[in-house]
Amino acid sequence: MKGLTFAAILIHTSLFNTVTAQNASDATIGVNLPTAAAAPPATGVVYSGGHVLQNPTIQPIYWGHKTAGHIVGLVQPPMDLFYSEIVGSSYLLMPEYQVQEATFNTSYFYEMDNGAVLDDTLDIQPFLINLAKKGIIYPNQNTYYPVYVRVAGLLWNNLESCTDFCYYRNSVTYANGQTIYYGVFPLYMSFCTPCTSISQIANLIINSAMALASAVTNPEASSSSASQASLGYVDSVSGVGIGELCRTVRKVSKLEEVFTVNGRYFQLPPLWSEKLQGCTANFQTLAVPVAALLGAPTQ
Ligand SMILES: *[C@@H]1O[C@H](CO)[C@@H](O)[C@H](O)[C@H]1NC(C)=O
Ligand SMILES: *[C@@H]1O[C@H](CO)[C@@H](O)[C@H](O)[C@H]1NC(C)=O
Repeated sequence: MKGLTFAAILIHTSLFNTVTAQNASDATIGVNLPTAAAAPPATGVVYSGGHVLQNPTIQPIYWGHKTAGHIVGLVQPPMDLFYSEIVGSSYLLMPEYQVQEATFNTSYFYEMDNGAVLDDTLDIQPFLINLAKKGIIYPNQNTYYPVYVRVAGLLWNNLESCTDFCYYRNSVTYANGQTIYYGVFPLYMSFCTPCTSISQIANLIINSAMALASAVTNPEASSSSASQASLGYVDSVSGVGIGELCRTVRKVSKLEEVFTVNGRYFQLPPLWSEKLQGCTANFQTLAVPVAALLGAPTQ
């Protein structure tokens, strides 16, 4: 197993705060801060020289049943749509982090409902390595695999899904020396309330977007000091990646509309731009400060 993922963090706890907390946190990117608002926490994204997915190929993997009513079958169409559309949008164009054009590769569906408690090292990694060995996936230095799997529970790094995290990222190097970069998004038989605060799909898309942005800019996701040099772009203060920094550290809960070339749009968490020193959805302009919205007429 490669390094452990520090980027997984406890995403669910801060997904949606109360209105009051939301204002205070959103205002960290705004002008005219409410007097009660705390100063934004110090951040400073640094590049440690590690690998970056400069031309990422994203291939989602689904593990469960396709049949009607099964959660994995239900999430495949919207998640495939999300990934296939977002790769052509400005959301993933991050020149300041060396990330160029991204592409989507047709997802793979593994029809097998286990409904068990799975473990990252014992189950997820052998599963991915097996897919690679069988020639079902072709991992290279630019591929990222978000895995959506139905579980009773998921264990990673002594942490438990739903209680401790809504997703995690990791990487594993197998026999031929190729590293597989992946993220795991557990889907539950019964709802995990902290991970479905808006809706199963909405939270999945938000979490997938954050994981994706951090995966391409910091694929190794290692937090051990021994492999510090393998880190890509990470906030030196919090250890959090580009994708999660705005939402979990800067507490920006507002979503930004990201338009795709096909005229669709997704509401996604803004990403941290070190260059712009703020949260953005397109790495060209900062996200609209929420303070401006608060002053707008209300119904
Ligand atoms: C948050 O927004 C609500 C509604 O706009 C407002 O009543 C409240 O005072 C705001 N709280 C803070 C801390 O800005
Ligand atoms: C995309 O999928 C095709 C078909 O499975 C495969 O031949 C190709 O190598 C994949 N590309 C990447 C970058 O994974």
